[in-house]
Amino acid sequence: MTMQLASTEIASRTAAIVQEMKGLEGPLLPILHGIQEEFGHVPQEALPVIADGLNLSRAEVYGVVTFYHDFRARPAGRHVLKLCQAEACQSMGSDAVAAKFKQLLGIGFHETTRDGSVTLEPVYCLGLCACSPSAMLDGEVIGRLDDEKIEEIAAEVRS
Ligand code: FES
Repeated sequence: MTMQLASTEIASRTAAIVQEMKGLEGPLLPILHGIQEEFGHVPQEALPVIADGLNLSRAEVYGVVTFYHDFRARPAGRHVLKLCQAEACQSMGSDAVAAKFKQLLGIGFHETTRDGSVTLEPVYCLGLCACSPSAMLDGEVIGRLDDEKIEEIAAEVRS
């Protein structure tokens, strides 16, 4: 999905999604998910359209976007690396894994490298607890992260 979409294009596609889902019970979250699926993130330009469609203030919509870390306010990098931070992975050293990735990539969680190559995000259980600590790279799960795998992944996403 291109990042250079015109505001009017974003507004009209957002309006279509709002129209389609506003009848749902608790429509805001499904609408935001739909928008993130459409654009890869929730663009600023979409917020007033959602607010108008649901009779909410922009601040309310913005508050929800920033509260749920699933939603990105900016486009993601070419790769998305999610590191599991839930209990089983915690007990197998996911903190150290995260620290190592942050150091190798020079970014923290919810950040994208300046060259746009990778976005780092936490995730809470990938269903791969038996192989913890685990991660997901561009939708593929990876288990038993050790120093070697971490370095390989970091090199791959930066190349
Ligand atoms: S806790 Fe990490 S995969 Fe389940």
